[in-house]
Amino acid sequence: MKKIFIAPSILSADFAKLGKDVKDVLFSGGDIIHFDVMDNHYVPNLTFGPMVLKSLRQYGIQAPIDVHLMVQPVDNLIPLFAKAGADIITFHPEASQNVIGTLSLIKNFGCRAGLAINPDTSLNILSDFMDQIDVILLMSVMPGFAGQKFILPVLKKIYQARKKINQCNARILLEVDGGINLNNVQDIADAGADIFVIGSCIFRSKNYKYTIDMIKNKLHNLHKK
Ligand code: DX5
Ligand code: ZN
Repeated sequence: MKKIFIAPSILSADFAKLGKDVKDVLFSGGDIIHFDVMDNHYVPNLTFGPMVLKSLRQYGIQAPIDVHLMVQPVDNLIPLFAKAGADIITFHPEASQNVIGTLSLIKNFGCRAGLAINPDTSLNILSDFMDQIDVILLMSVMPGFAGQKFILPVLKKIYQARKKINQCNARILLEVDGGINLNNVQDIADAGADIFVIGSCIFRSKNYKYTIDMIKNKLHNLHKK
């Protein structure tokens, strides 16, 4: 069975008890913590920065932390997030003046590097970077807010991205972000996703473990088909 990863997005966590919420969601079966950084410039919302990530590490969180930068400019934040304890750093290519330079910066700081593709951005933008990236993050909502509806045409894009990965660089992980829930997770897995970013479906549920178990059961059944 192919390895899949559930990446709870802490954008929907309870910030008044963030450390505990992150521990709970990991204990409940989350694999990777998805950390949405918004700057009220590249996207019309404002969240958290490297100090919050560092605090989570100091609180004892050891799981991989996947930093999704929705910021412009990008480069000045990379050393700060890497030193704070990020494992993966993903940015939107439109937000960088020099995508190759930004990817190298991330790698030079010892992190895995990803490119995030908005629903209305073509996959063609990836072609020049397929041998430099570790992760492709396909946005299935417009970046900026939790709790939006999955944009259905992105499903086709997931299939296309999987094909591109299989042809060019099979070790790239395919991550899908936005609007994932119990009703569509199987279709997204079928299309070829490896990492499932899930915010409100998990954090707005009463029981994280029950919800993550339900998601994993759906994915497990899919692989048994
Ligand atoms: C949106 C963020 C997503 C978001 C996902 O800009 O990148 O990570 O938190 O949340 P849900 O699962 O609620 O769509
Ligand atoms: Zn995200």
